[in-house]
Amino acid sequence: MLQFPHFVHAALFAAALLTSGSAHAQGAPGIEEKAKLCATCHGEHGIPINKQTPVIWGQNEGYLYLQLRDFKSGSRKNDLMGPLAATLEKDDMLALAAYFAKQKWPNLQQPSAPDDVAAKAKTAAGSVGCPACHLEHFQGDGSTARLAGQWQDYLQATMMAFRDKSRGNNPGMSDLMKATSPEDIAALSQYLAGLQIDAYLGQGR
Ligand code: HEC
Ligand code: HEC
Repeated sequence: MLQFPHFVHAALFAAALLTSGSAHAQGAPGIEEKAKLCATCHGEHGIPINKQTPVIWGQNEGYLYLQLRDFKSGSRKNDLMGPLAATLEKDDMLALAAYFAKQKWPNLQQPSAPDDVAAKAKTAAGSVGCPACHLEHFQGDGSTARLAGQWQDYLQATMMAFRDKSRGNNPGMSDLMKATSPEDIAALSQYLAGLQIDAYLGQGR
């Protein structure tokens, strides 16, 4: 992150605006104003500014809320999201989660994994049982993340972070990733990133 000082600047700028807006906590008015600040990094139309910043448009509501809560508490650490989440009250987090969950997941135009990579990924997913929680199209639900169509680079980085516990907010995912080899994690990232599931799910989730 240090090689991108303008992002840090953006985070501080956004944090200042978020703080100034949270005087009216009741019912979290102005949530759309706050959501605009998130667009600095997560994208105007839901396509994030870089491959290290995850899609949040159309992500599951419970999952979004829990991540904001965990960034605020510090159980999930990130130099950009930590300071931002620190300025949010619970009402803001719930309202932001509801707002972003209603948006349409963007198409990042990532190619489908080649057959050999897909086969390796499916074997790994089958042996760990990912679909038991992330569901059959990797759409997730509630407090379980959607994985299909997320950035490949982000998926790989966050799975490796669960594995070495630098992402420590879900010990269950850490145990599962420790049982998965880095090669399988690489295949899973490429496979999941290339899944186009919105035709199955219907429009505008
Ligand atoms: C300065 C850039 C920046 C801004 C502004 C920003 N984010 Fe983030 N956000 C990130 C990055 C980078 C990550 C990935 C962190 C990591 O790798 O752990 C992230 C992660 C997240 C996640 C976790 C998603 C997942 O799939 O686990 C959520 C939820 C989130 N941001 C919500 C928000 C909301 C809501 C706002 C506005 C209030 C916001 N972000 C503003 C950069 C930003
Ligand atoms: C027992 C249920 C369960 C199983 C099995 C499971 N997951 Fe998860 N996974 C979760 C939950 C719950 C979360 C949200 C964790 C959090 O709150 O940070 C998660 C989060 C993730 C994330 C982070 C998403 C993001 O946006 O940051 C990735 C990636 C992931 N899982 C991949 C996998 C893969 C790949 C498998 C199979 C190899 C798998 N998971 C198996 C429950 C599960």
